[in-house]
Amino acid sequence: MDFKLRKAEPADVSDILRLVKELAKHEEMEDQVLLTEKDLLEDGFGETPFYRCVLAEVQTETSSDAETSSGSKVVGFAMYYFTYDPWVGKQLYLEDFFIMEAYRGLGIGSELLRHLSDLAVTCRCTGMMFVVAENNEPSIRFYKRRGAEDLSKDEGWRVFRFDRDSLLRMATPTEE
Ligand code: COA
Repeated sequence: MDFKLRKAEPADVSDILRLVKELAKHEEMEDQVLLTEKDLLEDGFGETPFYRCVLAEVQTETSSDAETSSGSKVVGFAMYYFTYDPWVGKQLYLEDFFIMEAYRGLGIGSELLRHLSDLAVTCRCTGMMFVVAENNEPSIRFYKRRGAEDLSKDEGWRVFRFDRDSLLRMATPTEE
């Protein structure tokens, strides 16, 4: 199947949110997606983008009796940004990675990883970091076949978060 990868544009935020929700649904956590298209627009395309996105797009053809029209459809994406490790320097952090079910197994995911690897190497990153749910065995196998190390298992790292309430408790109190 013919597909192309391209950088996301502001007009793509509805497709990005659709895919974010599909991935969250796949992980049975759809109700935790609070983000809106407006957030995605402000956060990814302003002066200081907080995330970057590469989209996978296929050409589509719909035909009726009268005519055949062609268009394109966004079928997958990788959301990423750059972080910094004080021991080894620049890292590419892969935040979300998803291909719609009907388009899996066609090499699109591998091509997205190739694209990100090219980018990481060009930017002289020393690694690509990501978190995978423990029960997402197919993806763990997919990453391991490509050489990924399981840092939780091998080095004992655990993922933590301060949620907004914790942040507010620690933050400077605002005047009433
Ligand atoms: N679905 C998934 N994988 C299939 C498949 C299918 N129907 N049919 C075959 N495969 C195999 C391929 O042969 C290939 O094997 P390989 O690792 O030996 O190369 C691999 O699974 C898929 O490779 P590819 O086609 O390049 O990737 P993809 O386009 O299917 O994308 C994922 C890979 C992980 C992004 C995709 O499976 C996905 O979106 N999964 C659900 C979401 C998810 O878990 N994301 C990761 C969150 S951390």
